[in-house]
Amino acid sequence: MPTADLIVGLQWGDEGKGKIVDMLAQKYEAVARFAGGHNAGHTIVTNGKTYALHLIPSGILNPDAINIIGNGVVVCPANLMKEMSQFDNLKGRLWLSDKAHLILPYHQMIDQARERMRGAKAIGTTGRGIGPAYADKISRLGHRVGELKDTEKLFKKIVEYLHQNRPIFEAMKIEMPDETALKEDLIRYRDGLMPYIADTTQMIWKLLEDGKKVLLEGAQGTMLDIDHGTYPFVTSSNTIAGGACTGMGLSTKQVGHVTGIAKAYCTRVGNGPFPSEDFGPYGERLRQQGHEFGTTTGRPRRCGWFDAVAIRYACALNGCDQISLMKLDVLDGFEEIKICVGYRFEGELIDYVPYDLEKVEPVYETFPGWEKVEGISDYEKLPDSAKAYIETIERVSGVKVGIISTSPDRDDTIIR
Ligand code: GDP
Ligand code: IMO
Ligand code: MG
Repeated sequence: MPTADLIVGLQWGDEGKGKIVDMLAQKYEAVARFAGGHNAGHTIVTNGKTYALHLIPSGILNPDAINIIGNGVVVCPANLMKEMSQFDNLKGRLWLSDKAHLILPYHQMIDQARERMRGAKAIGTTGRGIGPAYADKISRLGHRVGELKDTEKLFKKIVEYLHQNRPIFEAMKIEMPDETALKEDLIRYRDGLMPYIADTTQMIWKLLEDGKKVLLEGAQGTMLDIDHGTYPFVTSSNTIAGGACTGMGLSTKQVGHVTGIAKAYCTRVGNGPFPSEDFGPYGERLRQQGHEFGTTTGRPRRCGWFDAVAIRYACALNGCDQISLMKLDVLDGFEEIKICVGYRFEGELIDYVPYDLEKVEPVYETFPGWEKVEGISDYEKLPDSAKAYIETIERVSGVKVGIISTSPDRDDTIIR
């Protein structure tokens, strides 16, 4: 059976998925996003030009690839149209599932109001309305992209929803949306998106049947998965490999080679447990050297050491065939580098991710650093200490490091 290959984040997002998808997309005929929304932010640097993508798959920079936004994605039409305006001639190159759910302005307002009400216990969401849109989908109160075809009917359904939920809006101090503006917006969305809406389930089946090479692009990371991440400090979708099946309409047999993306250290944006976080000068140095500020919200990312326990867990959840290790150059010039190889949990040493991740203490092994790996694209040219670091990651995670990235640029990549 023909299969699609998969790229998935192994940490808390921002691992550098965009660079690898863009790089691999040169060899694929279709790239598909299967989960999340414009909470994602993928930065791609090619020929000195930087692109920030949120919803459009990172294959868009390959003019010969088709890009698909699958049914598992939540779509904010206004943001998608804005993002699309960066590119010419997307017709026939970008497709949007009629079964994907819409993020409407009130979803964003609810997201932000809930975060305000949580106060110090806030999740630290991107405030993009992701959670409320997925909640409506699961509650069977959502609206699908395909409904834009009949805006009059959709408008009536949304107005009905708004009236039913008025008491909740009032309690949350959210202003009821203006109905005239809403109607105009829906017409604008219909006109802007109609040429791109398709049955992407049939489309991906046909692509695979015709022997086309398809790449599935994950967003966020495994530790942000709604079921397997650090709940409730997670996003609202299944970010792991399984999400690619439900989010695209693929059977489990149609997912082939899986590449897990991990940084050579670790970051997290938003709140929640992060055992290997470094609160001292090393964390700050990682943030500065790694330019660890969010693509979507500009927030400083929390930084720390590579967590091999979490990576082993993530590789198992995703069935990883290989790891792509990103941003190795950010560790250039560090005298010593640490890897979290175990956790101390309720007085015992453990090597798995427990339910109560916030209660663990990291156990580190320390390695000598190296001078410079930036721009190296040949494994043999890496300093011995960098090779030893990579081999340790392979040993503790049990998965081969097949790709190593040494700068944001497409060319500065080692393929082993
Ligand atoms: P994504 O969300 O997983 O696609 O990752 P982001 O784009 O949010 O964050 C990764 C950042 O690291 C981007 O700014 C990339 O340009 C950059 N990046 C990717 N690979 C490397 C690398 O090997 N070295 C350095 N220095 N930067 C990289
Ligand atoms: P990419 O694809 C990093 C985080 C938010 C917050 C939590 C919930 O660029 O790797 P949400 O808005 O989804 O309800 O927020 O998830 N988050 C991300 N962190 N990278 C992302 O995407 C993220 N998408 C969501 O910061 O902690
Ligand atoms: Mg990102």
